[in-house]
Amino acid sequence: MKVTVIGLGYLGATHAVAMAELGHEVIGIEPDSQKLSSLAQGILPFHEPGLDAALPRAISSGRLKFQSEHNEASASADLHFICVGTPQTKGSDAADTSYVVAAAKELAAWIKPTAVVAGKSTVPVGTAANLKDVMDDIAGFDVHLAWNPEFLREGTALEDSLRPDRIVVGTWSQHSVDVLREVYGPIIATGTPFLELDVPTAELVKVSANAFLATKISFINAMAEVAEVSGADAVSLAKAIGYDDRIGSKFLRTGIGFGGGCLPKDIRGFVARAEELGVGSAVEFLKDVDAVNLRRRDKVVELANQELGDLAGKSITMLGISFKPDSDDLRDSPALEIAQRLTALGATVTVHDPVSLNSLATRSPELSREENLIEAARGAELTILGTEWKLYREVDPQELAAVVKAKTIIDGRNVLDVAKWQAADWRVIALGRNVHNG
Ligand SMILES: NC(=O)c1ccc[n+]([C@@H]2O[C@H](COP(=O)([O-])OP(=O)(O)OC[C@H]3O[C@@H](n4cnc5c(N)ncnc54)[C@H](O)[C@@H]3O)[C@@H](O)[C@H]2O)c1
Repeated sequence: MKVTVIGLGYLGATHAVAMAELGHEVIGIEPDSQKLSSLAQGILPFHEPGLDAALPRAISSGRLKFQSEHNEASASADLHFICVGTPQTKGSDAADTSYVVAAAKELAAWIKPTAVVAGKSTVPVGTAANLKDVMDDIAGFDVHLAWNPEFLREGTALEDSLRPDRIVVGTWSQHSVDVLREVYGPIIATGTPFLELDVPTAELVKVSANAFLATKISFINAMAEVAEVSGADAVSLAKAIGYDDRIGSKFLRTGIGFGGGCLPKDIRGFVARAEELGVGSAVEFLKDVDAVNLRRRDKVVELANQELGDLAGKSITMLGISFKPDSDDLRDSPALEIAQRLTALGATVTVHDPVSLNSLATRSPELSREENLIEAARGAELTILGTEWKLYREVDPQELAAVVKAKTIIDGRNVLDVAKWQAADWRVIALGRNVHNG
């Protein structure tokens, strides 16, 4: 099929490559000239394992092309995917849908009557109905608009796109269903469930899934707060309750909490939308989910204060700065916020991260960056593990012990082998755990 992918960020770039891998002819549309030129040269502008190799492959197959705006070539497509951002609105909790509206308007001026538009961005329930009115007015006909939320996870984005748990589509026309079934045909053929829903339900699936996941993480972090004052161990607690298959052990690890470009803004946007609809109390609990999550960041700052007293002039090393491993995404990263707050309190924070130092240089230039792990740790009076990159789990604590000034580490992700670190003479402080240091 001939498709366009509008907006080539984390979601759109992955989706465009995935569509080309499935054998479709894809035009990616992206107005950011730097991003566009990088993609067109086969260089992924962000870190995403597997996608970096798949992008040049898709380009050389001749099935993936790029342009900055619509033209006759893109207008002839049978299907258009809208993948632009829906960030949190500045000064409010609501999702900013202005990019989606702008992308829909631009497309409506070019679209052919038989083409289908599939929104993939995460939007507040009710957005698609408004977009359809706007698009119908501009196009002068009944546009086949559908919502097709995306569930990919950064770090495994391409794999998630090609082998998703399920495909969800919300449609107003059988034609939209048929076209979407066709485009996802090879994936459906492998047995992936294809759920045909009404549009508001499809919009809600994504935000409610993210609300559930955020709640699960904050649940165990709330238990960690209780564990910390009662001598209990939240890691063992999570393991013990996770054996119940109604609960499950995934997303039940205590630590500095969730971040990234989705969960935080999606739960806030959900509350804001529910309030607009007059049912704010139904999802009021998500404010607590958010608050529990943010309190974990406060906790680390508090622990740093307890360890070092006045932070002015103190050297702290942050191991990992992205919001999750296998990604260089710094949007609402807990490790980044903690590093920024420690810096604001006078500490000198040196950051190590295997892939995020370039994005950090633009995002937060006041933090010092060090590519070599041992050099990053040299002279540290406190070390904090901020992102659970595999390399930090595997690092030899003896080697780090030899260069730091004080052998104290806060394990912000509860991934270190405490006994091994203690054997190397480290004092380990772990969130939600009553670790006995000798
Ligand atoms: N990042 C994820 O893991 C993920 C997963 C599932 C869903 N989502 C959702 O997907 C959407 C996009 O997220 P993202 O992380 O890719 O955001 P992003 O900010 O990385 O990318 C958005 C892109 O859209 C481009 N854009 C803006 N206006 C445009 C226009 N009018 N026409 C064409 N392109 C335009 C921007 O330049 C940018 O490159 C959001 O709604 C997000 O919630 C993201």
